Amino acid sequence: MTGDRIVIDGGATTLVLGVADDGRLHQLGLGGPDAAAIDASFPTSLYPLAYPTHGEEVLREPALRATHGTGSTSVRLLVDGHSEQLHPHGRVHRIELVDRTAPLLVVLCWRTWPEHGVIEQWVEVTNTGDAPTVLHQAASAAPAVPGDDPWFTHWGGGWAQEWTETTEPLTPGVKSVASAGGVRPSLHRAPVVLYAGRGRATETSGSVLAATLLWGGDVRFDAEVALHRHTRLLAGFQHRGAERRLDPGEWFVTPAAALVWSDEGIGATSRALHRWARDHKVRDGHRPRSIVFNNWEAMFFDLDTDKVRAVVDGAAAVGAEVFLLDDGWFGDRHPRDDDQQGLGDWMVDAAKFPDGLGPVIDHTLAAGLRFGLWVEPEMVNPRSGLYEQHPDWVVAEPGRERREERNQLVLDVLQPEVRDFVLGVIDEAVALHPGISYLKWDANRDLFEVGSPALPADRQTHLAIDRVRATEEIMAEVARRHPEVDLMLCASGGGRSNLETLRWFHELWTSDDTDPIDRVRIQWGASHLLPASVLPAHVTRWGGKPIGFACAVALSGRFGFDLDPATLTDQERATATQATATAKQIRTVVQFGDLHRLVSPVGSSRAALAYVDPATGKDRR
Ligand code: GLA
Repeated sequence: MTGDRIVIDGGATTLVLGVADDGRLHQLGLGGPDAAAIDASFPTSLYPLAYPTHGEEVLREPALRATHGTGSTSVRLLVDGHSEQLHPHGRVHRIELVDRTAPLLVVLCWRTWPEHGVIEQWVEVTNTGDAPTVLHQAASAAPAVPGDDPWFTHWGGGWAQEWTETTEPLTPGVKSVASAGGVRPSLHRAPVVLYAGRGRATETSGSVLAATLLWGGDVRFDAEVALHRHTRLLAGFQHRGAERRLDPGEWFVTPAAALVWSDEGIGATSRALHRWARDHKVRDGHRPRSIVFNNWEAMFFDLDTDKVRAVVDGAAAVGAEVFLLDDGWFGDRHPRDDDQQGLGDWMVDAAKFPDGLGPVIDHTLAAGLRFGLWVEPEMVNPRSGLYEQHPDWVVAEPGRERREERNQLVLDVLQPEVRDFVLGVIDEAVALHPGISYLKWDANRDLFEVGSPALPADRQTHLAIDRVRATEEIMAEVARRHPEVDLMLCASGGGRSNLETLRWFHELWTSDDTDPIDRVRIQWGASHLLPASVLPAHVTRWGGKPIGFACAVALSGRFGFDLDPATLTDQERATATQATATAKQIRTVVQFGDLHRLVSPVGSSRAALAYVDPATGKDRR
């Protein structure tokens, strides 16, 4: 092994590793294809460690930290083996590292996608001893980024403010950006960052690394600048409150990070991520998305059969393809007349729809549209039949007050009967309402008092990871059981904007903020990770801007509407109808073309972007 050079060849993104004389693994290079030809003339040991552990570089942030059964806390990893295998689109490398003193096996894994210029990296940690180990943190990737003028770009915001960009020069120290709350991580912090080591990158120039975590839970990125030393980016799950206990023989696999390098500016990293997402990550990534007419902003909770039919007629008149009935259609003794009650009671509200949803669905299908329905299956209002019957079904800490957010609590999907209930919500919605072919799956609160009776006392912190994985298992099962139903992912807007959960979803609600001026900035930010095909952009009345302008903004995403069609003037209706026709005409270029961001709305009052058809070179601006 000693002296070996290992090239992780992801095409436009290449990582070069070397094993030093003492067996430690170092990063010799990271960059474009040229990185493979790096002249590593210094002894390997002078290059950055490929995966720094607590106890190795005492002055720096570790990627991995554990407390062993003996109580000792340092980890020193030496290479014990390397294997390489083909997968259909590249290679999988596994480098095994062991600690000579502590019983720990750490396998660094990479999957390369040379056609897309993407490298995925994740880490598997196994306790090989005979006493429990506590794993405090384990980043997915820890690339050292070349250059001495580091700039960092990250996005965050909160409800209706997703994707607010910050681009800043880094100074010595650690800049950490992370999400919290567990359920709607990307509402607060997008799971993608840009790290430009050699000065601020533009859309078309500069060296830049884009890193995203393929993870539906909380994420964390630590960018560390050390004077006179290499700079490094740690990318992984948010480890605070997420420690893992590993019993003898037990292992933990981190989520994967995806790394994309560009020497031609930021735009190339986005285009690579978009292509990779459509080809390999997003559900039915190459299927054109339909034009959705949502009724939320038109009606909120004020529903009945006739009112909904009228909106359906208006949706048909402007040429929409799916009518989506949002919140408010359900409830029994606690009717969902506002957001204070009813969540959990998934029976059609007989006061609003005395004959069920059948007449509304039939009307929608007869008008030539598909029918979609909103659900929020992971949540419960305490004012609901479900909670009255099962107060123990929620994530909570024994003895502690259960604080509500949007008047609701989070169901504990680690309990098997709760998992079955959540799955049953979708099964029943589809089975009881033939004609549904679209569902919006929402989730509208974070985790506060984090606990589950499904986990023993010494594993309560596992909830942070296990709840995400249990929820994703349900999502996977829903996709498997209902292949004919398109799924929109929503969490108070863009709270679940990541490339992992999209494996089971066709699109995600970009943001509840549909003011077209705000939307220019939000969609611009989101485009650094996600292709337009998964980013619904709806024409609404939010902000009171001209309908023509709202249409222009929405045309750069997956086009749709969310307004009361009865309020459209004749001229506005003509504009909306024309925009729908245009959306149908240009959707393959917008949804599947190459995005070029031309003029940034960040810090300016103008914006421009173009989608180019890679086959013809024709663009749509
Ligand atoms: C969340 C969603 C909205 C809408 C409402 C319904 O806020 O983000 O789009 O569905 O819930 O209550």
